[in-house]
Amino acid sequence: MLNWENPIETTIDNPNIVPDIDPGHTTNEQAFNAEVMMPANLKPINPEDKRVVNGLTDINQLAPFKYPWAWNFFLNANKNHWTPLDINMAQDVSDYKYKLTLEERHVYENVLSYLTTSDIMAMRNIGLAVMEKMTAPELQIYQARQVYEEALHTWTYQHCIETIGLDQGDIYNRYRVVPEINQKIQIASRRLKSILRSGIDLRDPDELNNFVISYIFFAAVFEGCWFYNGFSPIFALQRRGLMKGTAEQFQYIMRDEVMHTAFGIRVVKQIIYEENITLDPKIVRNMWDEAEAAEATYANYILRDPILGYSTDMHIGQFRFIANRRANQLAMEEPFPGAEATLPWLDEQANLRKEKNFFETRVTEYQTGGTLSWD
Ligand SMILES: [Fe+2]
Ligand SMILES: [Fe+2]
Repeated sequence: MLNWENPIETTIDNPNIVPDIDPGHTTNEQAFNAEVMMPANLKPINPEDKRVVNGLTDINQLAPFKYPWAWNFFLNANKNHWTPLDINMAQDVSDYKYKLTLEERHVYENVLSYLTTSDIMAMRNIGLAVMEKMTAPELQIYQARQVYEEALHTWTYQHCIETIGLDQGDIYNRYRVVPEINQKIQIASRRLKSILRSGIDLRDPDELNNFVISYIFFAAVFEGCWFYNGFSPIFALQRRGLMKGTAEQFQYIMRDEVMHTAFGIRVVKQIIYEENITLDPKIVRNMWDEAEAAEATYANYILRDPILGYSTDMHIGQFRFIANRRANQLAMEEPFPGAEATLPWLDEQANLRKEKNFFETRVTEYQTGGTLSWD
């Protein structure tokens, strides 16, 4: 039984060692100042004074809400809870060994490899670079949940990799040795590094602009397109009755990612409104062009040899279609006018609401899958 007083007994070897906490340290200087000023300014907070960034209100007070939509995201996120252990992977082990072609294995392994590295970056982005810059707690609460979900996704990929029996040293290093995967990771890494520096002052218009562009990249491109599209080769296998356990795991992940995307886009729009930001259209255009080129390179690599029911053209076409969807959500110009859905089954495939009983576990008790909008 779990000991709630000391759940992990080996965590602290010497209980006499007290963590060295520097009370003067914070990267969120303005909000911190608002906190330390409290004793001299004992009066209630006006929620209307809250801001997404650059706020001056005490950030320790949740409600009354300025952003009730953020709290609703948190409540909704808690309706999609699962662990990878809930899903039966036995058939996948057999499929991988006896049914997948070499080409399909190549797709499967590289998709896992790309996704697992990406999800760690997604976690670091939201948890280390973004969350600390927020100055309203209702935003941070959802982002804290998001950090957990990204960790859960990493566990999910690891569970798949371990269960199938793939070589971990091989899979986890592919982003370092395969240029076509590395390119996408490099792009994200560059964005992440630019907002992970210490001492960033978002009152500086250039810093604020860079932060907003980076947030758009992570929400709309990285999670909203690359992740969204990233699962589809596995869903294509699932449609042929292959790797259904992995696909089901990805369906749960995708539901989270759709919410991360929607939340991120909502936050960005709020910042743009509150801070009266005008983005340089050239920078936004370059972001889409770079993302499309990297996605095409990646697709050409994972699908260098054709597999049944899925192709490079489908993958890139769907990227452009989804990119337009994200731009519309952002109230921005569509980057790829006229792009049509090349995987018309994707939204349906991604939706967990199904008649069949996946397995006799509590997962079937979830009732929220059908209520999420994929737009
Ligand atoms: Fe994730
Ligand atoms: Fe995410």
